Amino acid sequence: MKSKTPAESHCIKTEFVLPNDTNHVQNLFGGKLMQWVDITAAISAQRHSGRVVVTASINHVSFEHPIRQNSIITLEAKVSRAFNSSMEVIVDVWVEHPSTGEKTKCNEAILTFVAVDQNGTPLPVPELVPVTEQEHKRYEAALRRRQLSLLLAGRIQPEEATELRALFESAKSKR
Ligand SMILES: CC(C)(COP(=O)(O)OP(=O)(O)OC[C@H]1O[C@@H](n2cnc3c(N)ncnc32)[C@H](O)[C@@H]1OP(=O)(O)O)[C@@H](O)C(=O)NCCC(=O)NCCS
Repeated sequence: MKSKTPAESHCIKTEFVLPNDTNHVQNLFGGKLMQWVDITAAISAQRHSGRVVVTASINHVSFEHPIRQNSIITLEAKVSRAFNSSMEVIVDVWVEHPSTGEKTKCNEAILTFVAVDQNGTPLPVPELVPVTEQEHKRYEAALRRRQLSLLLAGRIQPEEATELRALFESAKSKR
């Protein structure tokens, strides 16, 4: 299977935050944002794998700044690492200043998708080859996040989380 770069799975979605998308304090409702995040990330994972994908896990989501009604937001997703049948996708969310057009990052989400056949059986996906410095950093850290997600899901034992252990041991040795 031919390897792919993160650029090949790049997906951009732009949305206008309308009154129906907001909560009681006129900020974008978190659940609405998660819907847009999930769709953008799923398209990215599908572009990488060339397969139907399902969300296996939402590994991380941060709401750093509230997004006001009438804002224009852009969600940008790319596969950050591919494993056997699973792929980690990172979504960066930017809000656009209404007059200058300047973009400020307001959210980040990290999800895991699995490529499946028509019976829901996992299928292998192409390897991901990072290119830019940021893609290399995200690729390296993805293994730790996978182990944390699998540990929390009860799919691996603590002793199998080798990357996490190495992280804690290196932090301890620096003290
Ligand atoms: C995700 C799903 C296909 C996994 O099926 P499974 O029979 O458990 O398959 P496996 O144990 O072979 O796992 C498949 C892959 O998923 C990964 N995976 C499963 N749960 C995971 C989790 N919580 N975090 C990260 N990866 C996970 C496994 O590590 C494996 O990755 P790999 O093939 O790259 O090594 C299955 O659980 C499913 O269909 N879930 C429902 C998905 C869905 O409906 N999503 C919509 C949102 S509700």
